[in-house]
Amino acid sequence: MCGIIGYTGEKYAPEILIQGLKKLEYRGYDSAGIAVSKNGKTLICKNRGKVSALEQKSADTDLSGTVCGIGHTRWATHGEPSDINSHPHRGGENVTLVHNGIIENYLELKKELKAKGYNPISQTDTEIAAMLIDSMYNGDPIKAIFDSISKIHGSFALGIMFRDYPNTIYAVRRDSPLIIGVGENENFIASDIPAILPYTKKYYLSDENEVAVVTKSDIRFFTNDGKEIHKDLMTAAWDEQSAQKSGYKHFMLKEIYEQPKVIGDTINAYKNKAELFENCSFDFNIKGKIHIAACGSAMHAALLGKHVIEKLARIPVSVEIASEFRYNDPILDKDDIVIAISQSGETADTLAAVRLAKSKGIRTLGIVNVWGSTLSREADDIIYTYAGPEICVATTKAYLCQTVILDMLALKLGRAVMGEDEYLKQVNLLSSLPEYISNALKLDSTCKRLAEKNIAAEHQFYIGRGQDFCVCTEASLKLKEVSYVHSESYAAGELKHGTISLIVDGTPVIAVMTERSRIAKTISNIKEVVSRGASVICVTYDDVDVSDFCKNKITIDAPSEFLAPVIANIPLQLYAYHIADGRGNDVDKPRNLAKSVTVE
Ligand code: G6P
Repeated sequence: MCGIIGYTGEKYAPEILIQGLKKLEYRGYDSAGIAVSKNGKTLICKNRGKVSALEQKSADTDLSGTVCGIGHTRWATHGEPSDINSHPHRGGENVTLVHNGIIENYLELKKELKAKGYNPISQTDTEIAAMLIDSMYNGDPIKAIFDSISKIHGSFALGIMFRDYPNTIYAVRRDSPLIIGVGENENFIASDIPAILPYTKKYYLSDENEVAVVTKSDIRFFTNDGKEIHKDLMTAAWDEQSAQKSGYKHFMLKEIYEQPKVIGDTINAYKNKAELFENCSFDFNIKGKIHIAACGSAMHAALLGKHVIEKLARIPVSVEIASEFRYNDPILDKDDIVIAISQSGETADTLAAVRLAKSKGIRTLGIVNVWGSTLSREADDIIYTYAGPEICVATTKAYLCQTVILDMLALKLGRAVMGEDEYLKQVNLLSSLPEYISNALKLDSTCKRLAEKNIAAEHQFYIGRGQDFCVCTEASLKLKEVSYVHSESYAAGELKHGTISLIVDGTPVIAVMTERSRIAKTISNIKEVVSRGASVICVTYDDVDVSDFCKNKITIDAPSEFLAPVIANIPLQLYAYHIADGRGNDVDKPRNLAKSVTVE
């Protein structure tokens, strides 16, 4: 989704803004732009298309000597991707701004502003926000911003420049993320930490209902009654290196290869010998049901979480697609808990689920990767995944960390039910996961070979039972996201109730078999598709003989059956990656997708 960067300092602003936008590209966008102050004017340079095109355009424009500006990557919501609809937008004489979010009542505001003589030239809600602030401006930017946001319904993070204050950036947010980066003789605003990491690791979190006033030497925060507030300075745990490709062709591949480390970090953060989550404030005594709300891959992690928690702890778990949850009038009992899982901690629907639960007095637990994100601040308790910055739009390492946290949660909650011996055995095995993941990464060339074999297929199917079906849901989404190949995941026994009609000669079917008690049944289902011409890849253990019906086996080894889904994911991520790369796709930034979905 849209990305915001702002810079005020002593260096050449366009360069810093464009480098910042490149760091935000991963969020997904279709146009880009910057605005800088020069000789009493705010100059705008923007276009539909890539930041590299903007870089060229700004190099062809005389922006020399500029040291303050704002920049934006746009993911179109109101109005098609076009030069005119790109940000920054100007509102009258005084105001230029960039926006992430949606102004829900923009049509109503537009009418009022037109009556006052404003003439919007774009189709965006953002231009209306710029005009609204301009219409409220009477020499006092802070007052104009507060007066305007009191009229706005919806979500926004705004980076605003006033012509009268050429070296100052004003920032305000509601329901969309924004941080203020603190440098030496320079300061920043940004949607996300990677954009400021080349310059500083220090930042403030911008909170709702406050305006940040940012100059090169000063950052001040005000509430709408004019009071100044003092905030804690934060330090990013991530370094610049972790947000770079480090020699890998794509971030996706780099992030797949980082998994031994980040899974180790995640386990170590919450495992102390035989104890799990000792350092968490969350009360693990759950008397009611667990509802897990999430979107996309995080929702697939939740499916696996349901499977393992119900199996080990015998606590009922429902998995809720977050965008459905809030409108379903969910049945929530006071003893229930709602777990929200999110890499970014900014997904609008997931946040809405948490807010709904809280409004009903239900306890909430967030499982989140980004420190200081909205989810990390709003959920009652938090468990962090230690995946580090994830730049590829399609998640790999953050998803895997989520599954491991859920495995650990299942062990913690299931300790009494499963018995101490089994508990200790499984907890000890956790520590060996990174090594098993490293070994699974050695399957890379096998996965590449199989990807090359199936590269032209336009339909692929993933089948499995139990925990393996959960793995299939994510593997299938990964393939769709990055390769644009149509793919479906099915509980192996269900395929024959309709979808088997799509199997023709040579259709690739990937069968995952790690849950031993169900392997024989899945093999029967594989035979059903083989006899209809499917070309099958089996992902299973060495001792499972599939040679009769499958020439393409991916052999995995796992510390235990319970932890095998973590391992089975690795070759499936690599397979999806190589198909996407082989088809020449923009693997890290798949078309139409956004990393952080901050609108409903
Ligand atoms: C987007 C991303 C997915 C992600 C989902 C949820 O759709 O493209 O990769 O799984 O959002 O994001 P979250 O940050 O809440 O985990």
